[in-house]
Amino acid sequence: MSQRIYIAPSILSADFGKINEEIASIDPYSDLIHVDVMDGHFVPNITFGPGQVGHMRSKKPFDVHLMIENPDKYISEFAKGVKSAVGEELYAQSYLVVHQEATKDLPTTLRAIKALGMKAGVALNPATPWDAIEGVLDDVDMVVCMTVNPGFGGQKFIDSVMPKVVKLKELKPKLLIEIDGGVNDQTSKLCKEAGADVLVAGNFVFSSPDRKAAIESLR
Ligand code: DX5
Ligand code: ZN
Repeated sequence: MSQRIYIAPSILSADFGKINEEIASIDPYSDLIHVDVMDGHFVPNITFGPGQVGHMRSKKPFDVHLMIENPDKYISEFAKGVKSAVGEELYAQSYLVVHQEATKDLPTTLRAIKALGMKAGVALNPATPWDAIEGVLDDVDMVVCMTVNPGFGGQKFIDSVMPKVVKLKELKPKLLIEIDGGVNDQTSKLCKEAGADVLVAGNFVFSSPDRKAAIESLR
């Protein structure tokens, strides 16, 4: 039985000047809305803070990807922003994802996210091995395998990350695995073969004349 594929379009490639129109153009066809937060330190780009997240509106849960140094300092503010963006019900189905490379004490950070009532995710850069998170595989709701070096949309898919996805799926068949970066209607096939559950796509969706068709082509 083919497993269910969830699609999480990334709004990094959307027009921030009309972000709520942009979200409304995709949320009917999406399972999660991927919100890329960048601080200009952990990655060489800056996007938005918790205040702007709070002004967003979405009818689907958020998947907030924190590409920031020292995320512990900001998770409660981002959690507040998500609650105002998606409302109480979808809040509990929304994810805060921190980078393994940016955390000093990952188990504590994941516990803090869950204590706020959200789902907790951890992201691994392409060069970070799966065993960097071996100790938290039972505590995390989702693992994000980056298939680009984080910071920008529209980059080329790094297919040498796929063995990491295969290994994690073998170890924890029930663990949700998300692929983030360079996903399109071609590379999505590699992701599904490797056992991924959630596909993030930014440029492929927002540069397409038919966003609904682009999203459906990934499933
Ligand atoms: C990159 C972000 C990704 C990116 C995906 O640092 O984490 O979510 O926006 O965009 P595409 O699909 O264009 O690679
Ligand atoms: Zn992302």
